Amino acid sequence: MSILISPSILNSDFSDLRGELAKIAGADYAHVDVMDNHFVPNLTLGLPVVEAIVRATPVPVDAHLMIEDPDRWAPAYAEAGCASVTFHAEAATAPVKLARDLRAAGARAGLALRPATPIEPYLDLLPEFDMILVMTVEPGFGGQSFIDGTLPKIRRTREAISASGLDVWVQVDGGVSRATIERAADAGANVFVAGSAVYKADDAAAEVDALRGLAQQAHRH
Ligand code: DX5
Ligand code: ZN
Repeated sequence: MSILISPSILNSDFSDLRGELAKIAGADYAHVDVMDNHFVPNLTLGLPVVEAIVRATPVPVDAHLMIEDPDRWAPAYAEAGCASVTFHAEAATAPVKLARDLRAAGARAGLALRPATPIEPYLDLLPEFDMILVMTVEPGFGGQSFIDGTLPKIRRTREAISASGLDVWVQVDGGVSRATIERAADAGANVFVAGSAVYKADDAAAEVDALRGLAQQAHRH
Protein backbone atom coordinates (compact mmCIF):
# COMPACT_ATOMS: atom_id res chain seq x y z
CA MET A 1 0.00 0.00 0.00
CA SER A 2 1.43 3.38 -0.89
CA ILE A 3 2.24 5.88 1.82
CA LEU A 4 1.22 9.38 0.81
CA ILE A 5 1.97 12.71 2.48
CA SER A 6 -0.49 15.55 2.06
CA PRO A 7 0.73 18.70 3.82
CA SER A 8 -2.04 21.07 4.89
CA ILE A 9 -1.48 24.67 3.84
CA LEU A 10 -3.87 25.88 6.57
CA ASN A 11 -1.10 27.40 8.64
CA SER A 12 1.06 28.54 5.77
CA ASP A 13 1.48 32.19 4.76
CA PHE A 14 -1.68 32.97 2.75
CA SER A 15 -0.06 36.15 1.42
CA ASP A 16 2.41 33.98 -0.49
CA LEU A 17 0.48 30.84 -1.46
CA ARG A 18 2.59 30.22 -4.56
CA GLY A 19 5.79 30.26 -2.49
CA GLU A 20 4.26 28.11 0.24
CA LEU A 21 3.04 25.56 -2.32
CA ALA A 22 6.52 25.43 -3.88
CA LYS A 23 7.92 24.29 -0.52
CA ILE A 24 5.87 21.09 -0.73
CA ALA A 25 6.58 20.27 -4.38
CA GLY A 26 7.88 16.88 -3.24
CA ALA A 27 4.65 15.94 -1.45
CA ASP A 28 2.06 13.58 -2.90
CA TYR A 29 -0.85 15.97 -2.42
CA ALA A 30 -1.52 19.51 -1.23
CA HIS A 31 -4.26 19.43 1.43
CA VAL A 32 -6.55 22.45 1.32
CA ASP A 33 -8.96 23.03 4.22
CA VAL A 34 -12.23 24.72 3.25
CA MET A 35 -14.14 25.95 6.33
CA ASP A 36 -17.42 27.82 6.19
CA ASN A 37 -17.83 29.19 9.74
CA HIS A 38 -20.94 26.98 10.14
CA PHE A 39 -19.88 23.33 10.08
CA VAL A 40 -16.81 24.46 12.03
CA PRO A 41 -16.27 27.78 13.85
CA ASN A 42 -13.39 28.80 11.60
CA LEU A 43 -13.52 30.47 8.17
CA THR A 44 -10.75 29.88 5.64
CA LEU A 45 -11.08 29.97 1.88
CA GLY A 46 -13.50 28.88 -0.81
CA LEU A 47 -13.82 27.93 -4.44
CA PRO A 48 -12.09 30.90 -6.14
CA VAL A 49 -8.97 30.46 -4.02
CA VAL A 50 -9.00 26.69 -4.52
CA GLU A 51 -9.20 27.27 -8.29
CA ALA A 52 -6.17 29.54 -8.01
CA ILE A 53 -4.28 26.92 -5.98
CA VAL A 54 -5.00 24.25 -8.60
CA ARG A 55 -3.52 26.58 -11.22
CA ALA A 56 -0.52 27.50 -9.06
CA THR A 57 0.84 24.02 -8.29
CA PRO A 58 1.52 20.80 -10.19
CA VAL A 59 0.89 18.87 -6.95
CA PRO A 60 -2.56 17.26 -6.95
CA VAL A 61 -4.97 19.12 -4.66
CA ASP A 62 -6.66 17.24 -1.81
CA ALA A 63 -9.67 19.35 -0.79
CA HIS A 64 -11.09 18.80 2.70
CA LEU A 65 -14.49 20.43 2.90
CA MET A 66 -15.56 21.31 6.43
CA ILE A 67 -18.78 22.89 5.23
CA GLU A 68 -22.50 22.49 5.59
CA ASP A 69 -24.51 21.26 2.61
CA PRO A 70 -21.64 19.58 0.73
CA ASP A 71 -24.33 17.95 -1.46
CA ARG A 72 -24.71 21.36 -3.04
CA TRP A 73 -21.18 22.76 -2.95
CA ALA A 74 -18.70 19.87 -3.23
CA PRO A 75 -19.04 18.95 -6.94
CA ALA A 76 -17.68 22.36 -7.98
CA TYR A 77 -14.40 21.52 -6.24
CA ALA A 78 -14.09 18.40 -8.38
CA GLU A 79 -14.96 20.41 -11.49
CA ALA A 80 -12.28 22.94 -10.48
CA GLY A 81 -9.65 20.21 -10.88
CA CYS A 82 -9.11 18.98 -7.32
CA ALA A 83 -7.74 15.45 -7.53
CA SER A 84 -9.54 14.44 -4.35
CA VAL A 85 -12.60 15.95 -2.67
CA THR A 86 -13.51 14.92 0.87
CA PHE A 87 -16.77 15.91 2.54
CA HIS A 88 -18.01 15.24 6.06
CA ALA A 89 -20.43 12.39 6.79
CA GLU A 90 -22.09 14.56 9.46
CA ALA A 91 -22.91 17.26 6.92
CA ALA A 92 -23.98 15.27 3.87
CA THR A 93 -27.62 14.39 3.18
CA ALA A 94 -27.01 11.86 0.38
CA PRO A 95 -23.38 10.74 0.68
CA VAL A 96 -23.55 8.04 -1.98
CA LYS A 97 -25.09 10.32 -4.58
CA LEU A 98 -22.49 12.96 -3.73
CA ALA A 99 -19.60 10.50 -3.98
CA ARG A 100 -20.86 9.41 -7.38
CA ASP A 101 -21.14 13.03 -8.50
CA LEU A 102 -17.53 13.66 -7.41
CA ARG A 103 -16.25 10.61 -9.27
CA ALA A 104 -18.25 11.57 -12.35
CA ALA A 105 -16.52 14.96 -12.25
CA GLY A 106 -13.13 13.20 -12.25
CA ALA A 107 -12.12 13.42 -8.59
CA ARG A 108 -11.47 10.81 -5.97
CA ALA A 109 -14.32 10.80 -3.45
CA GLY A 110 -13.49 11.00 0.26
CA LEU A 111 -15.71 10.62 3.32
CA ALA A 112 -14.58 12.34 6.53
CA LEU A 113 -15.56 11.35 10.07
CA ARG A 114 -15.25 13.58 13.14
CA PRO A 115 -13.61 11.82 16.11
CA ALA A 116 -16.98 10.79 17.62
CA THR A 117 -18.56 9.64 14.34
CA PRO A 118 -18.45 5.85 13.94
CA ILE A 119 -17.34 4.15 10.73
CA GLU A 120 -19.75 1.24 11.16
CA PRO A 121 -22.84 2.84 9.49
CA TYR A 122 -20.72 3.44 6.37
CA LEU A 123 -19.02 0.05 6.02
CA ASP A 124 -21.51 -1.30 3.47
CA LEU A 125 -20.95 1.85 1.42
CA LEU A 126 -17.13 1.56 1.23
CA PRO A 127 -17.15 0.70 -2.52
CA GLU A 128 -18.59 4.17 -3.19
CA PHE A 129 -15.52 5.91 -1.76
CA ASP A 130 -11.84 6.21 -2.65
CA MET A 131 -10.77 7.38 0.79
CA ILE A 132 -12.00 7.51 4.38
CA LEU A 133 -10.66 10.44 6.40
CA VAL A 134 -10.56 9.60 10.09
CA MET A 135 -10.16 12.97 11.82
CA THR A 136 -7.60 12.70 14.59
CA VAL A 137 -8.62 16.08 16.07
CA GLU A 138 -11.92 17.97 16.07
CA PRO A 139 -11.95 19.76 12.70
CA GLY A 140 -11.60 23.52 12.68
CA PHE A 141 -8.07 24.48 13.59
CA GLY A 142 -4.47 23.46 13.01
CA GLY A 143 -2.00 22.90 15.79
CA GLN A 144 -4.17 20.68 18.03
CA SER A 145 -2.91 17.49 19.64
CA PHE A 146 -3.52 14.07 18.15
CA ILE A 147 -6.40 12.13 19.78
CA ASP A 148 -5.19 8.60 20.50
CA GLY A 149 -8.79 7.50 21.02
CA THR A 150 -9.25 7.57 17.23
CA LEU A 151 -6.69 4.79 16.70
CA PRO A 152 -9.17 1.91 17.18
CA LYS A 153 -11.44 3.43 14.53
CA ILE A 154 -8.51 3.72 12.11
CA ARG A 155 -7.75 0.05 12.75
CA ARG A 156 -11.39 -1.07 12.28
CA THR A 157 -11.64 0.95 9.09
CA ARG A 158 -8.48 -0.59 7.64
CA GLU A 159 -9.56 -4.09 8.67
CA ALA A 160 -12.95 -3.69 6.97
CA ILE A 161 -11.29 -2.41 3.79
CA SER A 162 -8.81 -5.28 3.75
CA ALA A 163 -11.56 -7.82 4.38
CA SER A 164 -13.57 -6.44 1.48
CA GLY A 165 -10.60 -6.49 -0.90
CA LEU A 166 -11.20 -2.85 -1.84
CA ASP A 167 -8.48 -0.31 -2.55
CA VAL A 168 -9.78 2.48 -0.33
CA TRP A 169 -7.24 4.82 1.26
CA VAL A 170 -7.36 5.72 4.95
CA GLN A 171 -6.34 9.30 5.67
CA VAL A 172 -5.57 10.84 9.05
CA ASP A 173 -5.69 14.58 9.70
CA GLY A 174 -4.88 16.50 12.86
CA GLY A 175 -1.86 16.48 15.13
CA VAL A 176 0.15 14.32 12.74
CA SER A 177 3.88 14.81 13.38
CA ARG A 178 7.07 12.82 13.84
CA ALA A 179 5.75 12.00 17.33
CA THR A 180 2.41 10.50 16.18
CA ILE A 181 2.68 9.37 12.55
CA GLU A 182 3.98 5.89 13.39
CA ARG A 183 0.97 5.14 15.60
CA ALA A 184 -1.41 6.19 12.84
CA ALA A 185 0.49 4.16 10.23
CA ASP A 186 0.61 1.13 12.49
CA ALA A 187 -3.18 1.37 12.92
CA GLY A 188 -3.60 1.27 9.14
CA ALA A 189 -3.61 4.83 7.81
CA ASN A 190 -1.77 5.37 4.52
CA VAL A 191 -2.45 9.05 3.71
CA PHE A 192 -1.08 11.54 6.21
CA VAL A 193 -2.10 15.19 6.46
CA ALA A 194 0.36 17.34 8.37
CA GLY A 195 -0.06 21.08 8.74
CA SER A 196 1.98 22.65 11.49
CA ALA A 197 4.52 19.80 11.50
CA VAL A 198 5.48 20.69 7.91
CA TYR A 199 5.03 24.46 7.86
CA LYS A 200 6.62 25.13 11.26
CA ALA A 201 9.68 23.08 10.29
CA ASP A 202 12.79 24.96 9.16
CA ASP A 203 12.84 22.86 6.00
CA ALA A 204 9.33 21.86 4.90
CA ALA A 205 10.55 19.58 2.10
CA ALA A 206 12.83 17.67 4.47
CA GLU A 207 9.98 17.31 6.97
CA VAL A 208 7.76 15.76 4.28
CA ASP A 209 10.49 13.21 3.56
CA ALA A 210 11.06 12.51 7.26
CA LEU A 211 7.36 11.90 7.84
CA ARG A 212 7.14 9.63 4.81
CA GLY A 213 10.14 7.63 6.02
CA LEU A 214 8.68 7.14 9.51
CA ALA A 215 5.30 6.05 8.12
CA GLN A 216 6.91 3.63 5.69
CA GLN A 217 8.94 2.06 8.49
CA ALA A 218 5.90 1.70 10.74
CA HIS A 219 3.99 0.04 7.92
CA ARG A 220 6.66 -2.59 7.36
CA HIS A 221 6.45 -3.76 10.99
C1 DX5 B 1 -8.10 20.81 10.90
C2 DX5 B 1 -7.68 20.61 9.47
C3 DX5 B 1 -6.31 20.11 9.31
C4 DX5 B 1 -5.22 21.00 9.89
C5 DX5 B 1 -4.20 20.09 10.46
O1 DX5 B 1 -9.45 20.90 11.00
O2 DX5 B 1 -8.54 19.70 8.82
O3 DX5 B 1 -6.02 19.77 7.96
O4 DX5 B 1 -4.62 21.85 8.97
O5 DX5 B 1 -3.26 20.84 11.12
P1 DX5 B 1 -2.20 20.18 12.10
O6 DX5 B 1 -1.41 19.19 11.30
O7 DX5 B 1 -1.43 21.34 12.59
O8 DX5 B 1 -2.98 19.49 13.21
ZN1 ZN C 1 -7.90 18.98 6.84
